[in-house]
Amino acid sequence: MTEIKKIAVIGGGMMGSGIAQVFAYCEDFSINIYDSFIPGKDILDRIKVNLDLLKSKGIYTDSETTEILSRISTCDQMDKAVAKADFVVECIPEDMNLKQKLFADLESLCKPETIFATNTSVMSITGIASLTIDKSRVVGTHFWNPPYLIPLVEVVKGNETSIETMETTMAVLKKAGKHPIWVNKDVPGFVANRLQHALWREAISIVENDIADAATVDEAVKLSFGLRLPILGPMENADMVGTDLTLSIHNYILKHLESSSEASPLLRTKVDTGELGFKSGKGFQEWTPEQIANSRKQLTEYLIKVIYNK
Ligand SMILES: NC(=O)c1ccc[n+]([C@@H]2O[C@H](COP(=O)([O-])OP(=O)(O)OC[C@H]3O[C@@H](n4cnc5c(N)ncnc54)[C@H](O)[C@@H]3O)[C@@H](O)[C@H]2O)c1
Repeated sequence: MTEIKKIAVIGGGMMGSGIAQVFAYCEDFSINIYDSFIPGKDILDRIKVNLDLLKSKGIYTDSETTEILSRISTCDQMDKAVAKADFVVECIPEDMNLKQKLFADLESLCKPETIFATNTSVMSITGIASLTIDKSRVVGTHFWNPPYLIPLVEVVKGNETSIETMETTMAVLKKAGKHPIWVNKDVPGFVANRLQHALWREAISIVENDIADAATVDEAVKLSFGLRLPILGPMENADMVGTDLTLSIHNYILKHLESSSEASPLLRTKVDTGELGFKSGKGFQEWTPEQIANSRKQLTEYLIKVIYNK
């Protein structure tokens, strides 16, 4: 297995900065970030804000924070940022052409054994690798936002990704303190987004069909199966209640659930009329600036409590 020490992150936006921070927790890694638009100082400032929050909660000391930051550098030339990298994580915008070109460029700039990981949310790993010569070294690493708090990373095998690339990627993520899962097939949405959006499709359909309003849908989730989810996933739950009961329920209910392969007309209307959610103050519900700030704060504090018990 290739020993990973030098990591390059391409794209220092919301995800790239958080992912660099995660790798920097491990003293064995040094991280170099390249972004073609954002100045290095702004990227480091964003990481400092996250670390200051963790410090204020007593998760890291002053000296630990300084050490973590000392492992991260930024570079304004991509060839220099990746020249010695053992592992490169791509975090540029979700655009297939842009990613394909970047991976082909990276291959010509890096060592022959460097692993190339893409943080695409939903796109095909095989498609992203299509312009590279050695496709066995291209892998999906789907981090969740905020990457410095959410443990899961989906490690996705493209059609030509080698088992060695998968194993090294799983190992490097474990070393950085993440919880990687092995995804065997390169399918849209991988595992977790397929599950998440199956739920969102039904949630929007319930609102659209006037069965309950948006706030009530969220209450129903948060105060019922949502409470169990952190310790009881759907597959264990199906075994707990019995596959026979699950079959009876599915025989009765599945034909009544939303099964459209198109986005909901209600969702489309919201977007067309500028009801964009937090961005515009109104989506499925209305949001004041205070409610928006409170929602984000509550989420971060909840995640810190669950993950760090602080
Ligand atoms: N935002 C999320 O919740 C989330 C979650 C999981 C995965 N992702 C995926 O992560 C990737 C990045 O998303 P983000 O939210 O961090 O986006 P972002 O817009 O915050 O950051 C992208 C960064 O890439 C830089 N960039 C653009 N083109 C570049 C290039 N050719 N070379 C180097 N840098 C370049 C931009 O300047 C920007 O700073 C996307 O593929 C996205 O789908 C996002």
